[in-house]
Amino acid sequence: MLTLVACGDGASQQSRQAASGTTLRLALNQTEEHPSFVALDNFGQRLSERTDGRWNIDVYPNATLGAQQEVLQLVGDGVVEMAIVSGTQLENVEEDFRVFNMPQVFDSVDHQMDVIHDPAIVDELYSSLEDQNVTVLGGFTQGTRSIYTSDGPVRTPEDLDGQKIRVQESELHISMMERMGAAATPMAYGEVYTAMQSGVLDGAENNEVSYVSAQHFEVAPYFSNTNHLVGVDYLVMSTDRLDVMSEQDRAAFEQEWTAAHEEHTELWAEATEQAIADAKAGGAQFNDVDTEAFRSALEPMAEEALTTDTQRELYEATRAAAD
Ligand code: GCU
Repeated sequence: MLTLVACGDGASQQSRQAASGTTLRLALNQTEEHPSFVALDNFGQRLSERTDGRWNIDVYPNATLGAQQEVLQLVGDGVVEMAIVSGTQLENVEEDFRVFNMPQVFDSVDHQMDVIHDPAIVDELYSSLEDQNVTVLGGFTQGTRSIYTSDGPVRTPEDLDGQKIRVQESELHISMMERMGAAATPMAYGEVYTAMQSGVLDGAENNEVSYVSAQHFEVAPYFSNTNHLVGVDYLVMSTDRLDVMSEQDRAAFEQEWTAAHEEHTELWAEATEQAIADAKAGGAQFNDVDTEAFRSALEPMAEEALTTDTQRELYEATRAAAD
């Protein structure tokens, strides 16, 4: 009789299983329209189905669980189980991550995705934080980042002279922005809009999708295609949570995560086109820059940034994987 009741009502059976399963909270600093939210939410749904509700993911968008620097700490503490954090955050914990934050290291999104999901290249790096209870599982592209400003287009490094441009919290990116000609101001993502609006900043750098989803185009309407780097966002998870997954559930988790970052890459191209159209409709202007001038300003960075053998090996393996 009990069995009949349990089998006879699929929906309630599923919710009972979900209630007895584990729900992983995932911190994200993007809106619900952003490709990262969409791909992660779909990942969570497939994971629940594949594990009969033993493992579920609840994505918290809009940095409601905290800014990236804080949530990375919370993942290590096991207070939040998962988060998307920019490579710049991991660089501050383990300097070898710096290699993938460098300008000119990736030629394209596809090159980046191949490298950051190639176990032969990244396995050791991704487990290097496990003594702090953080496992890196791979990542999403941040696409190509460019500079945008309030007071007119930027075409050369000289145009950035005296301008305060926000960078992510990273020594490497401070140095990058100085080489590009500006005064670099590190700041958390969630503070950038107000800082540009009030004139504390003259601009920032990011991809077109964030330019629109964070509404930065409203206060910095000149988007200059510096395309200075292809950024990466990592999915991180509390190591002790991963360790208690059964082998079968872990395999489902890995497969669905792979499907999630593949979906994200597909969504990305479309979202970028849409963002450019939306920004233009909102009054933003896009312009090309003196690419060669920026390229040669940034070229000496490789020498400066690569200070350990591991970094040099990662850099060489990455460049060898370029077409
Ligand atoms: C992108 C990226 C975020 C990052 C942000 C930033 O939006 O996807 O992870 O926090 O840039 O510039 O801080």
